[in-house]
Formats: sequence, C-alpha cells, structure tokens
Amino acid sequence: MRRWLAAASIMMAGVLGLAACGGGGGGGGESSQQPAAGGGKQQVEVFSWWTGPGEADGLAEMRKIFEQQNSGYSFFDAAVAGGSGDKAKALLESKLQAGQPPDTFQGHAGAELQGYIKAGNLEDLTFLYDELKLKDVFPQQLVDQISVDGKIYSVPVNIHRSNVLWFNPGVLKEAGVAAAPKTIDEFIAALEKVKATGKIPLSIGSEWTVTHLLENVLLGSLGTDAYNALFKPGANWSGPEVAKALESFNKIMSYAGDPQDDWQPAAKQVADGQAAFNIMGDWAYGYFHNPPEGGLGKTSKTDFDWAPAPGTEGTYLWLSDSFTLPKGAKHRDGAIAWLKVAASKEGQDAFNPKKGSIPARTDADKSLYTDYLADALKDWSDNKLAGSVQHGVSVNQPWLAAITEAVGLYISSKDVKALQQGLADAATANAQ
Ligand code: GAL
Repeated sequence: MRRWLAAASIMMAGVLGLAACGGGGGGGGESSQQPAAGGGKQQVEVFSWWTGPGEADGLAEMRKIFEQQNSGYSFFDAAVAGGSGDKAKALLESKLQAGQPPDTFQGHAGAELQGYIKAGNLEDLTFLYDELKLKDVFPQQLVDQISVDGKIYSVPVNIHRSNVLWFNPGVLKEAGVAAAPKTIDEFIAALEKVKATGKIPLSIGSEWTVTHLLENVLLGSLGTDAYNALFKPGANWSGPEVAKALESFNKIMSYAGDPQDDWQPAAKQVADGQAAFNIMGDWAYGYFHNPPEGGLGKTSKTDFDWAPAPGTEGTYLWLSDSFTLPKGAKHRDGAIAWLKVAASKEGQDAFNPKKGSIPARTDADKSLYTDYLADALKDWSDNKLAGSVQHGVSVNQPWLAAITEAVGLYISSKDVKALQQGLADAATANAQ
C-alpha cells in the first residue's frame, strides 16, 4: 500500500513538473520544463536512471561524444536517481500520459519495451537502422526483442548480465570457503561458514535487489529451460520445482545483512570486506573498478572477484539498455542525433567499459574489454540465454509490478507459500 502511495505521489509530481532529477552532471530538477539553453542551442532531454556512482560514468562518456559531434545541441541530463529505474519509470509513465515525453528515454529490450510499443508511445526507428545499416551489427535475437511486426523501436547500447556472484576473496578465505560456490546447496553451505566468522554472509539493497536475487535463485534452482518456460503460455508457477526454489531463496535470504538503500552500498560492503557475497548485475563491475571520481577504484581479484551466480554457469541471464524516440518528442532531431551516438561503435566503446557492460554491437573493439568484461564477452558468445525479470526482458511492467508486490509482502512476512501464490497469481493475471 505504502509503495502504491509513493508511486502515485511520484506520478503526481511528474505531472506537475516538480519531480527532482538525480543530477549526474546535468540540469536536474527541471526535466519537464525544457529550460532555454544557452547560446541558442537546442536541449536534448535524455531520460535515464544513471545518476549514481558507477552508472553515471558510462553516460558521461557517451555525453562527451554527443557534445563533440553536435555543437548545435546541448545535452540535458534528466536522469532520476534509483537503481533499476523503479522511480524513473513511474515518473516516465506520468510524463508519457501527460503528453510530455522526454526527447529520448532508456527502456529495456524485451517485454518492457514491447509494452511501450504496444501503448503507441514510440516512433518506428527502422529508417535509422536502414540509414546506419544497423541490422548488420546488432544480433538478430536482440533486434527481435525490440521489434513488433517487423518494425524496430529502439537502439540497444549494451548487454548486461544479471547473474553475477560478486565476492570478497579475503572474507571467503577467512571463512574457509575454498572457491566460489557452484550450486545453490554449496552457496548455502558457504553462507553458513561466513556467518560463523561474524561477517555479513550476503549483502542486500533496496526492495528491487531482492527481486533481482529471486530471479537468480529461480534460474539456479530450476535450470535454464524450466526458468525460461515460466514466461511462456501454460507456465506452472505452482508446482514443486518452484516451491523448492523458493525454499532455497528463503534460506538464502535468512543470511542477508541489513537492507542498504540501493545496490551501490550493498555492493560496497563486499568490496570493503564487510560482506562475503552479493548477487548483482555487472554494473557493479563499473562501480568497483572505475577510478574514485565515479567508482571505488578497487583491485580486481583482490578486493572483489566474480563467478556465475550459483547453479547458473553456462547461462547468461541477460538484459539490454536501449534508447527510444518517443512520439511527440520536442527535439526530435536532437534525439535522433543522440540515438546515432548510442548506436555507434565509438559511442558503445566509450560507454560500456565504464558502465560494466559489453557492447550490443558485434563489431566493437574487443581489446577495450578486459578483466571481468573479457569473461563477459566470451560467455555472451557461447552461453545459453535466459531473460531477466527485474530488468524488463521476460515480463512487462504490469507483471513486474505484481511480482514486486509479492516480493514486498514476502520481505515483511517471510511467508514462502504466500510468495509462491503471489507469483502464480501475477503470472495468471499478466502472462500473454
Ligand atoms: C538496470 C539497468 C542497468 C543498471 C541497473 C542498476 O535496470 O539496465 O543499466 O542501471 O539497472 O541501476
């Protein structure tokens, strides 16, 4: 109930043009008002949720290129703080409904984007794909996720991986855990060992990070095919396999530390040696690795290390950030200029090494992707695929809202049966 009230007040604030933006180097706070730009330049309002440490670094790199190449436009950073965009997406919805879209906004490839397409919010970008020959450089399976009836509606800038187990090697050593756990049972055993040392076994952030953990445990427990089947017609969310996965999830949650405000402080507990494990997307790599102005400047393999989330080796639980052209964008030409940068090899190769993601383009300069990112590039090319729930691939926004509701109730009640019922109801009400 409280969440719905919060979402409603964000929406009202958006309609009234009052919502605070996250800053991140832009003109935050005025996103719906399109303030006059200096020097007669047209402002291009770029809407995302990349304001926080780690995330803002990638956006800043792409912005630099946009500004170098487009002297007639100025970049207006309309980012709204809050990992995974839960606050940003509520505000965006109110802007779309009020007929005040930003010039371009970030949307996840897959079911989330299909929702915007079906609602008639987006312009068809096939002309841009033809002009820039983008079909030759984006994987077909990705283009399929952003298309309806053969028309293509966004420009994917990256591929992120959800199923990463981040860990602190020193804390594992102290606990007598010899290697990163490969199965859910090994994971639970390792969490128990860490608990005995007094360190936090598993760090956790705000509510959405619990759903993020849930998708990872479902994949790790069910396996790839059964996980993917959960989002197809006739899926069985009520059976014993899901019940078993949720029991494991509940057990794993019993080792979680105090919930942190968002994903960054939870990830930081691992890098600082206060916690052993965190399951988070690979945007955490940008945060750990980027120099201290934006990231933590930590040393890979010493301060932090990584492995596929337990039970998920060989599968890439993927998601992709993409940018759109909303119908009615006030600065359509400027938005197209932004999309051209987002689509370009230069733009993607500047953005992704800082963002902790790999490029959506297949022709990127591989030498720029080292350390964790070299592993990611390799796994992306030979792993099976599964689509993220929290980050828009497998479920649309109403379905995710229903899942979020069930997870929220679970967090306060710890009632696993009710969680399974809530997830089953969410699927029944929303599956297409
Ligand atoms: C995801 C998004 C990522 C990253 C993450 C944490 O939804 O796709 O780019 O920003 O949220 O905020």
